[in-house]
Amino acid sequence: MDAIISIVGSVAQYAFAPIRREVGYLILYERNFSKLIGCVSDLQAVREAINHRVEAERRNGKIIEVGVQNWLVEVNEVIERANQLLEDPRRREVGCSGWSFPNLILRHQLGKIATKIATDVAGVQGKNDFNEVGYLPALDEIASSSATRGGEKLETRETFKEDILKALRDPKACNVGVYGLRGVGKTFLVKEVAKIAKQQKLFDAVVIARVSETPDIKEIQGVIADKLGLQFPEETIAGRAYRLWKRIEAEKTVLIILDDIWQPLELEKVGIPSNKEHIGCKLLMTSKNQDVLLKLDVQKDFTFRLELLNETETWSLFQSTAGDVVNDISFKDVATQIAKKCAGLPLLIVTMAKGLKSKDVHAWKDALCQLQSVGHAERDATAYSALELSYNWLANDEIKALFLLSALLEYCSEDYLLKVAMGLGIFKNIDTVDDARNRLHSIVESLKASCLLLEGNNASRHIQMHDLVRDVAISIAYHLNTMSSPRSSRKDRLS
Ligand SMILES: Nc1ncnc2c1ncn2[C@@H]1O[C@H](COP(=O)(O)OP(=O)(O)O)[C@@H](O)[C@H]1O
Ligand SMILES: [Mg+2]
Repeated sequence: MDAIISIVGSVAQYAFAPIRREVGYLILYERNFSKLIGCVSDLQAVREAINHRVEAERRNGKIIEVGVQNWLVEVNEVIERANQLLEDPRRREVGCSGWSFPNLILRHQLGKIATKIATDVAGVQGKNDFNEVGYLPALDEIASSSATRGGEKLETRETFKEDILKALRDPKACNVGVYGLRGVGKTFLVKEVAKIAKQQKLFDAVVIARVSETPDIKEIQGVIADKLGLQFPEETIAGRAYRLWKRIEAEKTVLIILDDIWQPLELEKVGIPSNKEHIGCKLLMTSKNQDVLLKLDVQKDFTFRLELLNETETWSLFQSTAGDVVNDISFKDVATQIAKKCAGLPLLIVTMAKGLKSKDVHAWKDALCQLQSVGHAERDATAYSALELSYNWLANDEIKALFLLSALLEYCSEDYLLKVAMGLGIFKNIDTVDDARNRLHSIVESLKASCLLLEGNNASRHIQMHDLVRDVAISIAYHLNTMSSPRSSRKDRLS
């Protein structure tokens, strides 16, 4: 008997529960709608807060997590459904007010939909517990580098690139080195090699760090770490070196490009394993001197000297940088002579061509005249004259002062340059810091366009200048200061 009672009880429970629920849609109609309105309003507030966080992270250059993006889509969709229901004109037919009898079937239907949407709203709201809504992508300076965008195909450089890539593929080559004069195009070339190595997937990771005349180990560690998506909890150089070493070891194959090395660098101190210590780690290094490369354990067979451009290549680069103007009958002759004066050094070729591009024929002739006053064999003096001309072409004293200041401050941040420039009262007719920042930014961009500043890495926003340009700038600054320094003493700095 007990068994029968229990069975009947269960059946009744199963039979009556749905009926009670269906009746509830009718009776609790108003309550369900009020509940829905409350839930939607709460969800809208949460959506707004998450949207603020998303915007803030986007401004910081972060990428928004896919989970957050999906959540926002889901939220928008459920709020849209709720609003459509709340604005549904049929809701007027289901009320008990007035003389008309409510439409019970419709009341049941709408009440049911309201309950369903309220449940969905509560469901998505429960999923908004995001610790972080965005993440910083690992830097990919190589892919976005302007040095590797398009550009003129110069025959000997193409062959040179092939040789470097072949050496990088060669298991016998632990390290590979490129050397050559300042301004001959080593940095430009290794950036191109990096890009090809990435495209051809020769390595799992490819990173570039600039070493410079005065290497800052922490900065080099930071640059490599940023590109590998590594963050250091450690403050000391040794602690960071250990962490970096472990991170590099975790890459099966990695190409580390160390550009512009002046003296042998203690790789271990930086945290870069040698090829013997990590077989998948290869180094491509550049320097003015072959000796430096040899001291860094590059076998002689794997050091490559980057030569000056030949005459055809010089003209090709000059022409592609200056544009169609050089083919104009009145420019052609003077343009060819100026290109020749650049002595195959890409730095001079592009700086001259960019500086002259929008000038009239008189300026071209004057430039040639000034370059001709320098003897043929004096490459440094020609470099000085050409770069001094570019400086003279700068539009006004404000830009000139900022260029010289950038050279003196050497690899400083844009913010630091702003502070110093403001302190020195360089900006004219500027009232606010924001105005000064905008002015500085546009000046920096125009100096980059003239090739007097390097494009650099956008993320770090450091002011970078080619060291040859910097030497000339410092020499000009020195000369302006003394106004008595003979020309020869200025040239001495360039050797
Ligand atoms: N193959 C090239 N094509 C176009 N421009 C080049 C090329 N090589 C070098 N340049 C230009 O010359 C400048 C100096 O080159 P860079 O690579 O910095 O010289 P280096 O590192 O040997 O001192 C660069 O800023 C770049 O604008
Ligand atoms: Mg360089």
